[in-house]
Amino acid sequence: MTRDRFAGKVVLVTGASSGLGAACAQLFAAEGAHVYAVARDSARLAAVADGAAGVAGVAGVAGVVATHLADVADPAACEGAVAACVERFGRLDVLVNNAGRHDFRATPTVTHEGWNHDLAVNLSSVFFLSQAALPHLLESSGNIVNVASVAGVIGEAYSAAYTAAKHGVVGLTKALAVEYTRSPVRINCVCPGGMDTPQASTIEFPDDADFELIMRVAAPRGLMAASDVAQTVAFLASDDAAAIHGSIHVVDAGMTAG
Ligand SMILES: NC(=O)c1ccc[n+]([C@@H]2O[C@H](COP(=O)([O-])OP(=O)(O)OC[C@H]3O[C@@H](n4cnc5c(N)ncnc54)[C@H](O)[C@@H]3O)[C@@H](O)[C@H]2O)c1
Repeated sequence: MTRDRFAGKVVLVTGASSGLGAACAQLFAAEGAHVYAVARDSARLAAVADGAAGVAGVAGVAGVVATHLADVADPAACEGAVAACVERFGRLDVLVNNAGRHDFRATPTVTHEGWNHDLAVNLSSVFFLSQAALPHLLESSGNIVNVASVAGVIGEAYSAAYTAAKHGVVGLTKALAVEYTRSPVRINCVCPGGMDTPQASTIEFPDDADFELIMRVAAPRGLMAASDVAQTVAFLASDDAAAIHGSIHVVDAGMTAG
């Protein structure tokens, strides 16, 4: 049964053109949200918006999806996306910091530029989007859901920058949660394991990679559906999670269980 937990709410989702972000945009819209879908690819964003409108129509819930092009590696673009969302819909209730990128790279081949870019997309964007969103979330008693990774709680080989950034997202979630404890704003984090998305299906491995090390983070039950992980994001963003603040939720079908 489709619910309407987000009727009247405005939800900004980054990385909404693909994978988990697209699944979140569709789920929030199906539950009645006005979704502000942010990514870099206008054609794919438009396809997600069309798909979400179809789902919302079937459910009979008045979800709306507006799209916005931005490169979240640019702090000014992060601020601009939040401002444009509030301009478009008049408020902001939920920020889903989902955009991310992952390359497997052997440490000796990591350049200064590559390191800085991985941290800008995967970590700094989460801070600058949150910083811009917080005044609006204080007004709406809203919340933030950050998407880290199991690489936010364990190490992944050939992924130094990604792992450092995702551990950073976990730390940032906790730091902001403490700073905003005396406010109504909630801030939480989801750490997915392997999902069946373009990020997982198009990833390449370094020459001479030790696959035994890479397989340490293999999904024990196969790759998860992004739509299943989106359910945890939506739960944390909803009033069903009213008591959950500063929490890190591993969603990995048992991968880190041992
Ligand atoms: N797929 C997995 O196995 C997996 C596992 C753990 C965590 N994650 C995380 O989940 C999140 C979603 O990943 P996914 O698997 O759906 O990946 P994906 O590649 O399918 O989608 C990533 C999205 O982020 C956007 N994006 C990337 N760089 C951007 C930038 N600079 N500016 C704006 N948008 C940008 C892309 O356009 C796309 O919309 C990411 O944070 C990723 O690190 C994925």
